[in-house]
Amino acid sequence: MEQPERPEPCCFDEWAVHSGSRARRRGVGAPITGRMLEALDRQGLESRTMLDVGCGAGDLALGSVARGADHATGIDLAGGAIAQARSLAAERGFTDRTSFTAGDGAVAPLAPHDVVALNRVLCCYPSVESLLANTLAATRAVYAYTAPVHVGFMGRFNRISVAISNMWFRLREKKFRGFRAFVHDLDAVDRTIEAAGFRRVHDSRVRGVWQLAVFTRA
Ligand SMILES: C[S@@+](CC[C@H](N)C(=O)[O-])C[C@H]1O[C@@H](n2cnc3c(N)ncnc32)[C@H](O)[C@@H]1O
Repeated sequence: MEQPERPEPCCFDEWAVHSGSRARRRGVGAPITGRMLEALDRQGLESRTMLDVGCGAGDLALGSVARGADHATGIDLAGGAIAQARSLAAERGFTDRTSFTAGDGAVAPLAPHDVVALNRVLCCYPSVESLLANTLAATRAVYAYTAPVHVGFMGRFNRISVAISNMWFRLREKKFRGFRAFVHDLDAVDRTIEAAGFRRVHDSRVRGVWQLAVFTRA
């Protein structure tokens, strides 16, 4: 099978350290993570298993356990993010109910979980099709993502911001090691999720620029 293009782990080691510090101060590393948690909780986290793909510092996984999930698993390309997630889990007393592993969510074998979420991850990976296929196959009940809005004024704004960021990543190639950000077509993403047997139960914008979508098995 042809392997999808795989970006090098990069800036996200450093990014996860900042995100972990914010999570220690505020509970979650970013407001969007709080919104994602609320949306997942409405579909039911209690007594469920949760998979946080591209978990970063792990605060979505940890927040799910704090809201009653039995167990949460996090996977991330960046080894530094996994180290952050593990230490945050230990600080919160959730080591027994969480596991964090370095790996590529698009190709790694993923055990089935009740709830699967990709929070700000689709925009960091070129092969959205393989990431969707592998993670959807591991979803029993609820699937959720946040990603940059791709249509309208905010879509244009996001594409310009991402183009500028990518110029910066190119200029600092040594540090960012080939990393590029993406504004994927979310209509195509939603069609893929629906074709896998899910229906949308939540759709909202966070801070104007992010789309938050939640699906349940139809
Ligand atoms: C912008 S950060 C978001 C981290 C976290 N989800 C959050 O919202 O705080 C994107 C994360 O996705 C990870 N990532 C990107 N593509 C991935 C993939 N295919 N498999 C696993 N992790 C991935 C990156 O390493 C990075 O830590």
